[in-house]
Amino acid sequence: MHILIFEASPNTDGLTAACAAAAAEGVSAAGGCFERIPLAERYLTRCNQCDDGWGGCRSIHHCDGSDDDFEELHGALMGTDGLVLVTPVYWGDMSESMKAFTDRLRRCEATLGEQSRLFGKPVLLVAAAGGGGGGMISCLANMERWVQHVRALPWDMIGIKRITREVKLATIRASAEAMVRAHQG
Ligand SMILES: Cc1cc2nc3c(=O)[nH]c(=O)nc-3n(C[C@H](O)[C@H](O)[C@H](O)COP(=O)(O)O)c2cc1C
Repeated sequence: MHILIFEASPNTDGLTAACAAAAAEGVSAAGGCFERIPLAERYLTRCNQCDDGWGGCRSIHHCDGSDDDFEELHGALMGTDGLVLVTPVYWGDMSESMKAFTDRLRRCEATLGEQSRLFGKPVLLVAAAGGGGGGMISCLANMERWVQHVRALPWDMIGIKRITREVKLATIRASAEAMVRAHQG
């Protein structure tokens, strides 16, 4: 089983990266393979809200509005069996790179219904917050809504903050392992 792990912090040794590493360990422990994609290092622009706001992507199911890395990442979803999305919590929401990527992906896939590239694929959602952890729930709620829109399967939603780091890293590892075991053929 192949899992794409999207991580969306500019800090390569921060909490988000530790969560992505824990998820990767879990995938490997179940015999799966993974690719980690650091979104903050990629060139991703926000949705251009083309035409009257609905955009041509609603009917052609890809984005021809920006010459950036989006379509390369979008194409990578064809060959994957599941996703892990790990974002730092910024302002009670996903970070800007995760938001830009998931906003545009939703526009391309949501109107495909059961033909969505993500239909039925399990997704592990992780929100990595700071000391207080405020806004972790609203961040996870927004990610959950995204999973519903693209018709994927919300496998698990995990919030983590600095003082719960060790126990939640173990939880992420175990959840990623269980996700792969539950979905491999
Ligand atoms: C712009 C910005 C906004 C943030 N907003 C929140 C927030 O709403 N709630 C929270 O608990 N932490 C917030 N934080 C803290 C980060 O979520 C926290 O430091 C997280 O661990 C960052 O992940 P990283 O270590 O991978 O960079 C914010 C940090 C930044 C830079």
